Amino acid sequence: MDRKLFEAFHIGRIKIANRFVRSATWEGMCDDSGDPQDRLADYYARLAAGGVGLIISGYTYVRPDGKQLPGKMGIYSDHLIPALQKVTAAVHRKQGKIFCQLVHAGGQTSTRTIGTTPVAPSAVACDYYPEIPRELSREEIAELIEAFAAGAVRARQAGFDGIQLHGAHGYLINQFLSPLTNQRQDDYGGSLENRMRFLDQVTRAARSAVGPDYPLTIKLTAADNLPGGFTIDEAVLVAQQLEKIGMDAIEVSSGTAASGALTPARQGIDAPDSEAYNADFARRIKAAVGIPVGVVGGLRSGPVIKGLLDNGQADFFALSRPLIREPELVNHWREDPDYCATCISCNGCFKPGLKGEGIYCVLDRKV
Ligand SMILES: Cc1cc2nc3c(=O)[nH]c(=O)nc-3n(C[C@H](O)[C@H](O)[C@H](O)COP(=O)(O)O)c2cc1C
Repeated sequence: MDRKLFEAFHIGRIKIANRFVRSATWEGMCDDSGDPQDRLADYYARLAAGGVGLIISGYTYVRPDGKQLPGKMGIYSDHLIPALQKVTAAVHRKQGKIFCQLVHAGGQTSTRTIGTTPVAPSAVACDYYPEIPRELSREEIAELIEAFAAGAVRARQAGFDGIQLHGAHGYLINQFLSPLTNQRQDDYGGSLENRMRFLDQVTRAARSAVGPDYPLTIKLTAADNLPGGFTIDEAVLVAQQLEKIGMDAIEVSSGTAASGALTPARQGIDAPDSEAYNADFARRIKAAVGIPVGVVGGLRSGPVIKGLLDNGQADFFALSRPLIREPELVNHWREDPDYCATCISCNGCFKPGLKGEGIYCVLDRKV
C-alpha cells in the first residue's frame, strides 16, 4: 500500500488521519424513534479502532417523514442529541472522526414507515416504492431546507466532526436533481439550474447555520444510470456550483434502487476490472473542482486503490460492504499493501438489518 494512502489530508479545516473512509451504511441499530442503541456506539468504535480515517454515519433522517426504513437514525429533534453524543464520544475515544449523513427519503419511503403520505418534488412513484408521493408545495420546500439546517446544527451539538448531505441513491436531493422524478413546472424543476435549486438552498442554509469552519460535504450522485435520468455532465456542473457556495468535499456515487445492475451497491465484484465502478465519474468531477473528491463503490484490492490515487482519480476512498465483513480492513492494508478484501458483494448484509438484528456479514453466519 502506498504510504500516501496513510498520510493525513484535510476536509475543510479538519485533519483526517488517512484516505480511507467508511461510506454511510445504515446499520439498523436504532430504536423506532431514531435513537441510536448502545451497540451502535460499539460498532463505530470498532470501525475507528480498525483504522478508517473517517466514518460517515448511517442514514440519519432530518424529519420523521424522511425516514426510509426502521432502525435508521434520527436527528429531527433535540431529544436525540444525548444519545448521539454517546456515539460520537465512542469514536473520539478511539481517536476516530465521524460525520453525520443527513437525509430525507422523499418518495423513497412508505406510509407504513412514516405514518403519512411520502412527499417528493413531483407526484411520481419511485421504482420499488409503489406509493405515489404527494408533490411538495413551495412552503413545504422551505420547511425542508430548514429541517436540513436544523439537523446540521444538531449534528454539531452532538459532537459530529462534520456533515455529509445525502445527494445520491434516489433520495430527496437526488429526486430534485433528476428529471425522472422532478417534473415541477416552477423554478425548482426544468433546467439544471432549477433542479439543483433545492440542493443549492440546502447547502447555503446548512453552511450559514453551522458557520464557515464546520466541514460540510456531500455524497453526490454522478448519474442515475437510467435512460433520461441525471447525467455525469450535469453532475460536473453541480459539483462546481457546490464548491462555489462552500461545500468542502464530495464523495462520488451513482445509481438508484431502480438502476438494475447499475445500483449503488453492485454485485459481481470479483476481479480488478469490475472494482471501483464509479472511478471514471470521480475522475470527471475531480478534474472540475479544487476540493477533495472521494469515490465509493466496489473498492476491494489494495493495488486498485493505490492506482486510483496515483492516477489522480480521487483523493479519498470510501467503502461500505467490505468494512461490514472486515472492520479491521484498513489495518490489514497498512500491513499488506496487496491485500484484497474478502467481501464477495453478495448484498446479504442488507437482510439482518431489515430483520431488526443490526447488520453483519452473512457469509460466516446464517441469517
Ligand atoms: C447494508 C448497507 C446499508 C447502506 N446504507 C447506506 C446509507 O445509509 N447511506 C448511503 O449513502 N449509502 C448506503 N449504502 C451504500 C453504500 O454506502 C455504498 O455506496 C455501496 O454499498 C457501494 O460501496 P461498497 O462496494 O463499498 O459496498 C448501504 C449499503 C449497504 C450494503
